[in-house]
This record gives sequence, structure tokens and C-alpha cells, in this order.
Amino acid sequence: MMITENKELNKLNTLGLKAKARWYAQPADVTSIKSLLSDTRFKGMQILVTGSGSNLLYSKDFNGLLIRPDITSITVTGEDENSVYLRAGAGINWDTFVAYCVDRGWGGVENLSHIPGCVGASPVQNIGAYGSEVADTVVCVEYIDLETHTDHSISKNECRFGYRDSIFKRELKSKTIITYVTFCLSKFPVINANYSDVATELSGINKPGLNDVRKAIIDIRKRKLPDPEVIGNAGSFFKNPVVPENMAISLQNENPTLKIFPAPSGFSKIPAAWLIEQCGYKGKRFGNVGVHPNQALVLVAYEGATGEELINLAHSIQNSVFDKFKIEIEPEVNIV
Ligand code: EPU
Repeated sequence: MMITENKELNKLNTLGLKAKARWYAQPADVTSIKSLLSDTRFKGMQILVTGSGSNLLYSKDFNGLLIRPDITSITVTGEDENSVYLRAGAGINWDTFVAYCVDRGWGGVENLSHIPGCVGASPVQNIGAYGSEVADTVVCVEYIDLETHTDHSISKNECRFGYRDSIFKRELKSKTIITYVTFCLSKFPVINANYSDVATELSGINKPGLNDVRKAIIDIRKRKLPDPEVIGNAGSFFKNPVVPENMAISLQNENPTLKIFPAPSGFSKIPAAWLIEQCGYKGKRFGNVGVHPNQALVLVAYEGATGEELINLAHSIQNSVFDKFKIEIEPEVNIV
């Protein structure tokens, strides 16, 4: 396994920010991960685990060991009349995994097409889009404990998934390296086209299949979201705030253009993009950073941007939204 010193990270984060990691390694299996963890060179050092860096903001150099697990196998571990169980390595590109399932007619992840990132990162923030979440298909998550170097497997319930949330962002934050995720896919997929953008996109197709849904979602995302190869970005920069339903409804009564989305137990999700747009930020540029013209939830980093500039822009957006609506919006990206 190659271990690199002073690794440049600008190609390893989709915001394209310049930063260096003191040490960097890309272990391809569990044994290599464990040998890294017990390597005396890194004893006592901070460890950061990353996938493709699509949800990371480097505000400075990282003075520790950056590990990018590169386990890429996919194995069918079980099958019954209705379902197939797939154990997928953490290092597989998420969309490659989605395409693999869709190509075989296995349903459950097609609405999560074209989301940047890796399989291992998918349960951490419970990636979600167009009415689906990865939690809908996860069976269990395997990880190595960074302190004891022991292997663990936790069930979907133990992952305590919520909206952009899981145990890996709470009690297990910075304490694990996810190695494999096992998914249960359906051999008789039920198409979920309830999200209005998807329904519109599929309206001309009689009985859409998995491939149609995948294509529709890729088309929607390509239209709305900037390609990180062209403009640095980390997808949604903020989470959509979850507020008591009565508060959301009264805001909607005052603002008929506001769409609100149901959330569990008497709460509603308000699109942060709408709040940001109302504050006048959509499409604006401030120095080397800005707010995307097609999706106000996405902050973009132009050539030469720094993490500090992005953090400053994020703070001023948060303050404006709070001043205008008395609603706090929290970043979804992890700031290092
Ligand atoms: N809207 C605006 N202004 C905008 C964009 C959207 O007012 O500039 C309003 C519209 O009313 C629209 C609503 O916001 O109906 C929802 O917009 P969209 O469907 O684009 O979804 P979102 O809530 O902004 C979330 C996820 C996205 C995911 C989409 C689609 C979060 C933080 N983001 O965005 O995920 O693709 O739903 O399901 O929940 C990501 O996590 O990186 C990401 C892109």
C-alpha cells in the first residue's frame, strides 16, 4: 500500500480547495487498514477517513493521517424470492453501485442516482434524494473501531438513521472506518416517482422502469446541480431545517411559493434553498465563492477559493436567514 507524505488534497475534495494531509493512504482491504492503524509512525496522530471528499470542506491543512478506504468488491451474500442482499466495499463509487443494481433490475437505490461519493460514506449522512434515503435499503454496516482496531457490524436499527443523520455523526463520530455496507434490493421494484420533479420528468413514459427513473434523475441533477469537475462544490451545503409543522404552515400561509415537506412526529422540512433565495443570495458571487444560480443550497468555489471564504459566506447566509425568518440552518458539509 502506498503511503504518501504531504499529500495535496485539491483533487481529493469536490470543492477543489487547496490543502495538504501530513500522511495519506489508500488501503484496499481490512488487513491493510489494520496494519496502518498499528503502524508506529502514526501513533497518537489524528485520523480522518474520507471517501471521495464530496462532503468535506478543508479550512486548513490536515496534520494527521488521512485514510481513504479502497475496498471495491461487491458480493451477493443472500437471495430469496423477492430480494437480493449485496455486500459492497466502502471504496466503490456510489453511482457505480447504483448503476450495477439498476442494470440487474434490482430496485431500491435508483432514486439516489448520480449522487457523488462512495458507498462507505452513504450511511454516515444517510444520503437522500427524490423521496428515497439509503436507510431504506441498508441491512448492516461493517466498520473497524479506530481505537481498538476490532471489527464490528451494526444493523440498520443500530445505525439510528434520520434525515442526513446516523450514529456515525453522533456517538461513533470520528471513531470508525466503514469497510462494507450490506444492502437489500428488491427483485420486484416499486417505482417511486412521487417527488414532483421526478413525476414531471417521467410524465411522458408509460410504466417507467428502473432505467427510466435513473435517467430522469440524472437529467434533473445535471440541470440543477453544478458538475464539480467544472465548478468546485459539495452538493447541498446546508441541511433543510426541520421545524414544528404549525410554524411551517404559517410561513407557507404568508409565502404561497414555499413548498414544505413532511418530517416525522409533527415536524416539517422547509427547503433551505428557498430561505437562502429569499435572502437574495441565489446566483451571487462574493470574491472567489458564491451561490449557485440554479440551486441556492449549493455554494460554489471558483478558481483560487479558500475554505475561509466559504465559511465566511456560509456564516453570512446563516445570519441573514436567521434575521429574516428566525430559523437556523446548519451546514451539511463536514468542516475540517
Ligand atoms: N427551491 C428554491 N430555490 C432553489 C432551489 C429549490 O426555492 O434555488 C425550493 C423549491 O420550492 C423546491 C424545493 O426547494 O421545490 C426543493 O428543492 P430540490 O428538489 O432541489 O431539493 P432540496 O431540498 O433543495 C434536497 C437534498 C438534495 C437532493 C434534493 C432532491 C438536502 C440538504 N438536499 O435538496 O441533496 O438532491 O433534495 O431530493 O436535503 C445533497 O445532499 O448534496 C443534495 C444535492
